[in-house]
Amino acid sequence: MKQWLVASGPASLDVAAALAAKLGAKLARVDTTDFPDGESKVRIYEETRNKNVIVVQSLHPPTDRHLLQLLLLAHKLSEDGADVSAVIPYLAYARQDREFLKGEVVSLGVLAHLFRSVGIKRVVTVDIHSAQGLGLFSITAYSCSAIPLLAEYVSKNYTLKNPIAVSPDFGSSERVEAFAAVLKSEYVSFKKTRDRLTGEVITEDKNLDIAGRDAVIIDDMISTGTSVAKCAQLLKKDGAKKVIAACAHALLVGAAVEKMKAAGVDELIASNTIPGKYSKVDVAPLIASYFERL
Ligand code: R5P
Repeated sequence: MKQWLVASGPASLDVAAALAAKLGAKLARVDTTDFPDGESKVRIYEETRNKNVIVVQSLHPPTDRHLLQLLLLAHKLSEDGADVSAVIPYLAYARQDREFLKGEVVSLGVLAHLFRSVGIKRVVTVDIHSAQGLGLFSITAYSCSAIPLLAEYVSKNYTLKNPIAVSPDFGSSERVEAFAAVLKSEYVSFKKTRDRLTGEVITEDKNLDIAGRDAVIIDDMISTGTSVAKCAQLLKKDGAKKVIAACAHALLVGAAVEKMKAAGVDELIASNTIPGKYSKVDVAPLIASYFERL
């Protein structure tokens, strides 16, 4: 079995420590500081030649800073002769995986080039926005899913009345199916459209027959909370009792939490790909099992 060394950027200290413990790997000391003008500086205090090093860094806000720290760290490690894997629990820019409007940059493709150019050999992430994004990588890219773990968490911690699992859009249909399989519940997907210029979200009313039932909304990420809020409003209108929102990546930008609460969301549960108050489900075992299989 391979011996691993785990080196964490500042965005993912908890996941990195848990991953190192799972793999029985050493956690390297890495210092990340800022120059007065805002430039990032990274230093690793470890001999890494010929070692298999896993760099762990999520790309939640400040996204571009976290991205640069990851690139600097990975570059140093590969320059020093390490075999570098990158664990990126939340892979930002994954929603921009195609040219939706003419002239738009396929940002995820640019990230894939950058990762390769700094010597990263493989990328492991959690619930990438769409599997299509993996096709932009010319290095190994793998996405594991926290959805079954989120479903187990909900199942263990809540007593739900005849629950229904709900996807706020067709993009999360597979996720809701996986969630419902663990919950042993019915599931449904809403149709959501987003205006590519204004960002306005419209969710089609399905007039569900769910009076008195509990509902769990599942998505890969919650950013502004708009998608979940629109969905929750319709579920409440149709008579849903408790509404839980569960996601892999709780970005929770601005007043997202207040917006979802106002729309009728009672509970919010996320994985720890992004650290925070609602990040209850640890993804380290999922990621560790990928490396154990290598
Ligand atoms: C989009 O298709 C994603 O799966 C999420 O539904 C979306 O990014 C969530 O964003 P927001 O919380 O801003 O509606």
